[in-house]
Amino acid sequence: MDRSAAPQAASPARRSPATAPPPPPARSEVESLQAYSAPLEGRRGLLRLDFNENTVGPSPKVVEAIRAIPADEYAIYPEYDGLREAVLASLMATSGTIAADAPSTEPAAEQPGRRPSLRSEQVGLFNGVDAAIHALFQAYGAPGDRLLTTSPTFGYYTPCARMQGMAIEAIPYRMPGFGFPFEEILAALTTAPAGADGSWRPPRLLLLCNPNNPTGTRLAPEAVLALAAAAPHTLVVVDELYEAFTGDSVLPLLLAPGGRHDPEGQKPGDASVRAADVAASPETASPETAALPTAAPADPFASCPNLLVLRSLSKTAGIAGLRIGFAIGAAAVVDRVSRVTGPYDINSFAVSAAFAALADQAYVDAFVAEVLAARQWLVERLVAAGVRHHVDGGNYLLIWPQRPAAAVDQALREAGILVRSMAGKPLIDGSLRVSLGTLEQMGRFWDAFVVCDARPV
Ligand SMILES: Cc1ncc(COP(=O)(O)O)c(C=O)c1O
Repeated sequence: MDRSAAPQAASPARRSPATAPPPPPARSEVESLQAYSAPLEGRRGLLRLDFNENTVGPSPKVVEAIRAIPADEYAIYPEYDGLREAVLASLMATSGTIAADAPSTEPAAEQPGRRPSLRSEQVGLFNGVDAAIHALFQAYGAPGDRLLTTSPTFGYYTPCARMQGMAIEAIPYRMPGFGFPFEEILAALTTAPAGADGSWRPPRLLLLCNPNNPTGTRLAPEAVLALAAAAPHTLVVVDELYEAFTGDSVLPLLLAPGGRHDPEGQKPGDASVRAADVAASPETASPETAALPTAAPADPFASCPNLLVLRSLSKTAGIAGLRIGFAIGAAAVVDRVSRVTGPYDINSFAVSAAFAALADQAYVDAFVAEVLAARQWLVERLVAAGVRHHVDGGNYLLIWPQRPAAAVDQALREAGILVRSMAGKPLIDGSLRVSLGTLEQMGRFWDAFVVCDARPV
């Protein structure tokens, strides 16, 4: 380029760094936020029991599918055709029924009567469940709105609420035993606190992690549905990332033939909140759900359009590094949450891996079975050695070492094993969260733990 011919644009006066103004501030909520940080570096080559990942990697079919992607596909934007349908077919197969949009394998005459069926618009695709969480806060959380959740729970809900300027109410699990605080959550959802003025509104969002990370607390799916029915103006999000290890999902109830789900007949709840009110709620009803009779809903979310379920392939299928997660709910809610994402947020590798992973449920089932056997084996050791521990749902458990947790954490790291310190977390300060892998891996962990905690056997 002939520089002499370039137009002489008025160049900004160069200032010395000392006199340069500071960079423009971000939104006030962001200025007061600390980046969400987790000790994610330097983990390669170690036994990683610190992030509840699948400890053996994905199915060979996933590896094959990734290797088969031709290089010229790297150059084009990803395509998502058929992925939602594959997710629903998998969800409905693992929940004991058949997707409306999935190719039917049964002759029509043999299909049982009317059963609730998910449609592809009811599945949102995200760059991991983290991205779904971020998006749902962006879509629903406004400054001054309230997030209701439990404590301690998954760490990413709080920064997402803070970046929206939301107030956070975190209700502790019940001790001893980390029981779910059902009555307290129900009251916080439905009842203005004493002294509140007439402007009290229910929380905008309720985040339930089921089973809870890190306490493993399991909440019956009927209780989740009862909470959703009691608070039709609250978006109730149930993060089911670890449900495969325990089976506590709302989906089998919602997808049961004949729509067995009946929020009115279940659990404590506000009897004045009826399924019809939920479907008719102006904030949550979608045209299609509003038009359906509630007695035999074809849409599994017809009676709970304010419920959103989160699922991921990170922990079970072993593709946490590729990032893909799903949000399942009323089409209107999935649409709102999807509005705040970019058009190509999920990359082509994740898409190919997801198709292959979803088609190989047997691989996931075998890993889950291995984890459950390893859990049993480890718990027997912990009990026999008198180690304080807490185990419930999920592919992880909590251990309180007899030496300071930080020292045991460090000693395990030096022995090549990573676990996660729960230092500073309410109710579980001083514990280590240990992810569960195979029997062989838990054997390695136990041998090292006994030495690092200097515990006689
Ligand atoms: C409860 C919970 N939700 C969501 C996530 C994020 O999952 P993903 O890998 O799909 O983003 C995690 C990851 O640890 C988690 O524990």
